Amino acid sequence: MMTWLTEWWSGGAAVVEPATLRDAARLAHLHGASFHRGWGEAEFEVMLTERNTLVHRLRMGRKTIGFAVSRIAADEAEILSIAVAASHRGRGLSRNFLLTHLGHLAGRGVRTVFLEVEETNQPARRLYQRAGFSVAGRRERYYRQPGGDQLNALLMRRDLS
Ligand SMILES: CC(C)(COP(=O)(O)OP(=O)(O)OC[C@H]1O[C@@H](n2cnc3c(N)ncnc32)[C@H](O)[C@@H]1OP(=O)(O)O)[C@@H](O)C(=O)NCCC(=O)NCCS
Repeated sequence: MMTWLTEWWSGGAAVVEPATLRDAARLAHLHGASFHRGWGEAEFEVMLTERNTLVHRLRMGRKTIGFAVSRIAADEAEILSIAVAASHRGRGLSRNFLLTHLGHLAGRGVRTVFLEVEETNQPARRLYQRAGFSVAGRRERYYRQPGGDQLNALLMRRDLS
């Protein structure tokens, strides 16, 4: 748990807010630093204007240090991406961020949430497991690494109610 001192040191408590078009460049930067195939600013601009796409930013002080993107279809949603800046990982910030994002999905009428995660991505798997997701399937050699390696994906699911 954060004390006032660590909060002060790290620039304040983390705040979850809807992202806006003005965040597109920063989110593209964060995404590019977290994933092999980064989404560009233009891709974020499109997602930020689509009504069925929910994008939140995680802000600490004046700095955006994370994002979560989900796409909604009727009463189901898929988490397309979530990331916290490498400099702020390992502090437990992601769980409250994800749970807040899920709360907003529930508020939009979503009842079931799906996501895919690379099988060896332990921080992400623990995050999702602790946030109530369970494994619903496995896809062999689903992700192709830049070096040519193929990695398995797990399909995870959580009901919201
Ligand atoms: C996944 C991610 C959002 C987690 O954010 P975070 O704020 O660092 O998460 P936390 O500090 O809450 O750690 C999450 C869990 O992973 C564990 N963890 C952290 N680093 C780890 C590591 N290197 N190996 C194994 N477990 C690790 C933590 O102990 C924690 O588990 P716990 O709650 O049981 O203690 C962040 O690592 C990230 O942005 N990764 C790159 C993008 C990504 O892979 N996104 C998910 C795509 S599906």
